[in-house]
Amino acid sequence: MNQAINRPLDIGCVADLCVDLMVTGDVIPRFHQIEQLVDDYALEPGGSATIFASQFAKLGGRVGLIGAVGADAFGEYLTTALQAAGVDMRRVQRRKAIKTGLGLHLVKDDGDRATLTYLGSIDAPRLSDLTDDLLFECRHWHLASPFLLTNLRGHWKGWLERCRAAGMTTSMDTNWDPEDRWEGIQELLPLIDVFLPNEAEARAISGEEDVFRAGERLASSGPLVVIKRGSEGSTAFWTAEGGLRIVDGNSAIRDSQSALPVVDAVGAGDNFDAGFLRAWLLGQEVESCLHLATRCAVASLGAPGGIRGQLREGAME
Ligand SMILES: Nc1ncnc2c1ncn2[C@@H]1O[C@H](COP(=O)(O)OP(=O)(O)O)[C@@H](O)[C@H]1O
Ligand SMILES: [Mg+2]
Repeated sequence: MNQAINRPLDIGCVADLCVDLMVTGDVIPRFHQIEQLVDDYALEPGGSATIFASQFAKLGGRVGLIGAVGADAFGEYLTTALQAAGVDMRRVQRRKAIKTGLGLHLVKDDGDRATLTYLGSIDAPRLSDLTDDLLFECRHWHLASPFLLTNLRGHWKGWLERCRAAGMTTSMDTNWDPEDRWEGIQELLPLIDVFLPNEAEARAISGEEDVFRAGERLASSGPLVVIKRGSEGSTAFWTAEGGLRIVDGNSAIRDSQSALPVVDAVGAGDNFDAGFLRAWLLGQEVESCLHLATRCAVASLGAPGGIRGQLREGAME
């Protein structure tokens, strides 16, 4: 269990830092210099670890991001916005050689999106950013979106082993593998305490079509597995002395269903992770962790992007 309770940071996490520019309107772009008007736009901090850290900090947790931004206006914006949310940005470098990553999302009235991504700072983190002092400063390590962190590929097993040896606990949300190959994930599972895939990811990684069999299979490698299932809620699986335990995390969705306007699902899963890990690191039971996780996810559905709808500490029961 976690022997590192009194460290300055609850969580350390390498971040796929970028900004999201969402342009809304029922317009399909047309080349040959055609100009069309759109309804609205919004600029938001983007990247899965970024959204996660912002929500975790707003719940009163201490989280430090590791990564880089460009020496540009978007980099300034990201640093300021995340510091204001309470995220420790001391280990986010401002690098002249790169530009801050950008996701340009064209959002239609029916919610469908087309995205153009410039990677830039998203895959800037490298092995030299994983420094020994993190093993003394952090109580827990969260691995988010490893498939986007191309320079760290193949290094996570060694790093997670070092985290465990330093008395830290660990969690992982792989998000989708753009190559749909899922290489190297199975071997990480025995080193993970809390694994947070969505349903499609759980199926792809376990090779099981049925979500309950997928949960069982993944939990048999060691972690507490929490499968996020969109409007179906979530289900937790773990093996205890008496065998497999399964807990359904839908009660908080039913509680809030009547007041649930879904603007977009951007970041729902990352906000879910933040709520779950905040409660889990406070030593709460799985049921309570699922409850806070779901409240965070549902809150973020009601506002554009992943950050605006986030809950504040006062919202914790
Ligand atoms: N349409 C929805 N209605 C209610 N809850 C939702 C909806 N979409 C997502 N959620 C909540 O957000 C969580 C994470 O969303 P999900 O889409 O499953 O993950 P990801 O964003 O990682 O793909 C779900 O477990 C659920 O609690
Ligand atoms: Mg996700």
